[in-house]
Amino acid sequence: MGVLFVCLGNICRSPLAEAAFRKEADAAGLDIPIDSAGTGNWHVGEAPDIRAQAVALANGVDISSYRARQITTDDFRRFDMIVGMDENNLLNLRDICPAKLSSKLSLLLDHVPGRKGHFVADPYYGPDEGFLRTWEEVTAGARGLMRTLRGN
Ligand code: 4NP
Repeated sequence: MGVLFVCLGNICRSPLAEAAFRKEADAAGLDIPIDSAGTGNWHVGEAPDIRAQAVALANGVDISSYRARQITTDDFRRFDMIVGMDENNLLNLRDICPAKLSSKLSLLLDHVPGRKGHFVADPYYGPDEGFLRTWEEVTAGARGLMRTLRGN
């Protein structure tokens, strides 16, 4: 049961979702493949945005060694859940996902009661404080996803 988090650039939201979910999985003693990727290729090979690194570290997760990569068609087979941050991510994922595997796709906040269909807003062009909100959103999503995986 592996989980792949997906955003546009793989330098802000999806690395933070990966970090928040790793934190929850570690706390629960759940050892599964966890990764993140971008639908775009602009930042391939780069470390996460420095503001994302800072908010993750402040919350106990060092993401400085993460490196951005672009999603591949193989990811749809390798991972059991492919979790986008916003509607555009989901539309892009639906375009490239083999049809019989599309049930693996969801939005992160679909897993949070009362927030189905909501998006994790892109903090890239905004102020530093936006990354605090991103951390809160991906943490809520990560906790909800843990409940989904546990079947409750
Ligand atoms: P992310 O944020 O999708 O959360 O990693 C972005 C990072 C870079 C760009 C857009 C969004 N960009 O256009 O370069």
